[in-house]
Amino acid sequence: MATNHNLFTKKDVTVDLAKKPVLERSLSAFGLATMGIGAIVGAGIFITPGIIAGTYAGPAVILSFLLAAFVCALAALCYAEFASTIPLAGSAYTYAYAVFGELIAWILGWSLVSEYLFAVASVASSWSAYFQNLIGGFGVHLPEFLRHANGHGVDIIAIIICVLVTLLLLVGVRESTRINSIMVLVKIAVILLFIVVGAFFIKTNNYVPFIPKGFTDAAGVHHYGFAGIVAGAATAFYAYIGFDAVSTASEEVKNPKRNMPIGIIASLGVASVLYMALSAVLVGVVNYKDLSNPAHQGDPVAFALNMIHQNWIGGIVSLGAVVGMTTVLLVMTFGGTRLLFAISRDGLLPKSFHAISLKKKIPTGSTLIFGTLAALIGGVVPLQTIAELVNIGTLFAFALVSIGVIFLRNESQFKNIDAGFKVPFYPVVPILSFLMCVFLMLQLKAITWHVFVIWQAIGLVWYFLYGRTHSIVRHGGQEVK
Ligand code: ALA
Repeated sequence: MATNHNLFTKKDVTVDLAKKPVLERSLSAFGLATMGIGAIVGAGIFITPGIIAGTYAGPAVILSFLLAAFVCALAALCYAEFASTIPLAGSAYTYAYAVFGELIAWILGWSLVSEYLFAVASVASSWSAYFQNLIGGFGVHLPEFLRHANGHGVDIIAIIICVLVTLLLLVGVRESTRINSIMVLVKIAVILLFIVVGAFFIKTNNYVPFIPKGFTDAAGVHHYGFAGIVAGAATAFYAYIGFDAVSTASEEVKNPKRNMPIGIIASLGVASVLYMALSAVLVGVVNYKDLSNPAHQGDPVAFALNMIHQNWIGGIVSLGAVVGMTTVLLVMTFGGTRLLFAISRDGLLPKSFHAISLKKKIPTGSTLIFGTLAALIGGVVPLQTIAELVNIGTLFAFALVSIGVIFLRNESQFKNIDAGFKVPFYPVVPILSFLMCVFLMLQLKAITWHVFVIWQAIGLVWYFLYGRTHSIVRHGGQEVK
């Protein structure tokens, strides 16, 4: 079998598009939108507003969330065009394979693996912290060595929740989306509860000055002012991550050309409105200076409710936070497993990653592998600093997807495909989206960049030792043993 030596060999996805689906098409637009909100709204909204208001932006935290939403909306439009033109599992990885060729697709896929894996692991740690707080309220405390992943112990709760989520996904997509939808409603309800109750306690002078005077500290971190708002947006970005996970479900959606764009854009829209409203109430109730104390930043919503003596609502909100984070775990684990499935189907990862249960039409191989890895990372690695790694991998993927729209429009294999959705104001939106993603990447810490480069280096070593020689596309569609 002749091997194609070009690292930029493109995949002809029209073949996969025409194939009979092996996964079950069971998701509707509503199911997708709830899945999107499930993936997006989680640890981020219960943690980042306090950090952003206290450290970076003051009351202008609302503008940080608005700016991050704007960047995500641009990227979401680009995702929507791809997802409706190439409705295959694997999301941006598959899109890149069709328009940029194999090497870039691999780099992008590897970045997305970091996004999903670290997102699940970091949210599992937050889930564990909230859960331990809740049971602590009933006097139940775990032994110290099972409470945190701090080098001396393991976070047993983070491991258990990752295992439970994996088991649920193995039961079936339909069952998982049903449970997911109920939990999404619960989390929207508790966020609305906070917004409505908190609104009665807003003191308008807490909004003055709306943009406190900016300064840069000795470590070069920008606080307040315009630069603070931008730095806050880079942090707020974490809270929006997840809408792209919707596109990994492309092969399991009914009428993807219509439903994909609706699912992606609607879920992002709902999340943006909730975030801005919650932040506005938070900084109206609590003065941003009180949030600059790190002790008050980790759980700002409970802190605010405590200040206004509404502790009972605080309990409900904490319960809602645990439920909310569970859906993030479910959908991001789902996304990660479909991504590994798609990469392995192309031969770039071992075959065991795309083993399928024929009865349930679920990729059992990638589900088990992803679940185990996430449980291990969530259980043993302290993830406070690694949350930024989720951002950098995601922003990198968004930047490539954005610019990819221009290549998609010029790609001959899609000339005859009737795309359901087209990015408006082409090419301004894709170019602006690309530039904004790169701009936010530049706001991240040097250490994040270092780890990202190491992660990419590991990926490249794997690609050149394994992926390149096992690639099915480069071997004319044949599997390499
Ligand atoms: N956007 C996800 C969350 O905030 C990662 O939990």
